[in-house]
Amino acid sequence: MFEGKTILTGVKPTGTPHLGNYLGAIKPAIALGQEAIAHGGQHYMFIADYHAINAEKDPEVLAQKLKEIACIYLAGGLDPSKSVFYRQSDIPEIPEITTILYAYTPKGFMNKAHAYKAAVDKNRAAGKPDDDGINMGLYTYPTLMAADILAYDTDIVPVGKDQVQHVEIARDIAGAINAHYNQPLLHLPEYHIDENVAVVPGIDGRKMSKSYGNVIPLFEDDKAIKKAIFSIKTDSRPMEEPKDPKGILVYEIYKSIATPAQLQEMADGLRQGKLGYGHIKNMLLDAVINEVKEAREKYNYYMAHFDEVEEMLAQGAQKARPVAQATLQRLKSAVFGNHRGGGAIS
Ligand code: TRP
Repeated sequence: MFEGKTILTGVKPTGTPHLGNYLGAIKPAIALGQEAIAHGGQHYMFIADYHAINAEKDPEVLAQKLKEIACIYLAGGLDPSKSVFYRQSDIPEIPEITTILYAYTPKGFMNKAHAYKAAVDKNRAAGKPDDDGINMGLYTYPTLMAADILAYDTDIVPVGKDQVQHVEIARDIAGAINAHYNQPLLHLPEYHIDENVAVVPGIDGRKMSKSYGNVIPLFEDDKAIKKAIFSIKTDSRPMEEPKDPKGILVYEIYKSIATPAQLQEMADGLRQGKLGYGHIKNMLLDAVINEVKEAREKYNYYMAHFDEVEEMLAQGAQKARPVAQATLQRLKSAVFGNHRGGGAIS
């Protein structure tokens, strides 16, 4: 389905990813990229560190988050010899392109962007002035994201529902520029939502999210994973009582990780009163450990040998930059007139 397409995925290095992020976002993103590559397409995968500085001001924390996120993607199977894997801040053309895009970004788009609106709502709820603590980086972040996307002539941006609006903004800006100069300067991207990827519930039944404190950790030791799984909410029905698996939280989490046969086994055992909550928690634990075991080793390796990862990111930037440079050059020639030529960029 991604025949010859250019796919771009970006991730903000904020927060330590948990199992829900891994199963619901990271692995699917890697798989989509691999699918595109297998069908003659390309995959750009970058770490959006310029986006992260809007919220995180501590360089040590930023560096640590970047490190974790880079190693998690590698551990999850991203192959940097196939995907273009780079750090946003290594591509100086991105902020240059952003500056040009600003001239075509209606301020009203930014007012309506949900990240900004969410911040305003939070301020209102706390009885603070609307723009309290909101910086221009947050306010204008859809334009920077548009530059991320448009720089590489991206066809498809895989996103969660919350990011659809941002891809549409990128499309609108690109369309406005193309219309103004009456040439196809920028390629119009589309978003892609993977309907098959389920939201992984957390140990209290709400969506797994760090802010709810209901996560199953990803690359911590078995003990930490076990502790989280054994605190998943259950009721006091005895084992023998036949149970409908639907709505049993352990089973709902198991869905995002088990094979169909494993899932069937748990469902049958619950329906027949042969499996109690302790059993099914152990089944889930085995599945989680089995899922993360190999990746965790890789993760620990890369965390301990981050110089190797730095080298991969540097090589990725070398592949990404010429593409972004070409886009910037096209834009500058159109915006400032062709007489400006390409001399300034080499
Ligand atoms: N805004 C995205 C997020 O919060 C991260 C991101 C930045 C991104 N630039 C992008 C995602 C470009 C896709 C394409 O998750």
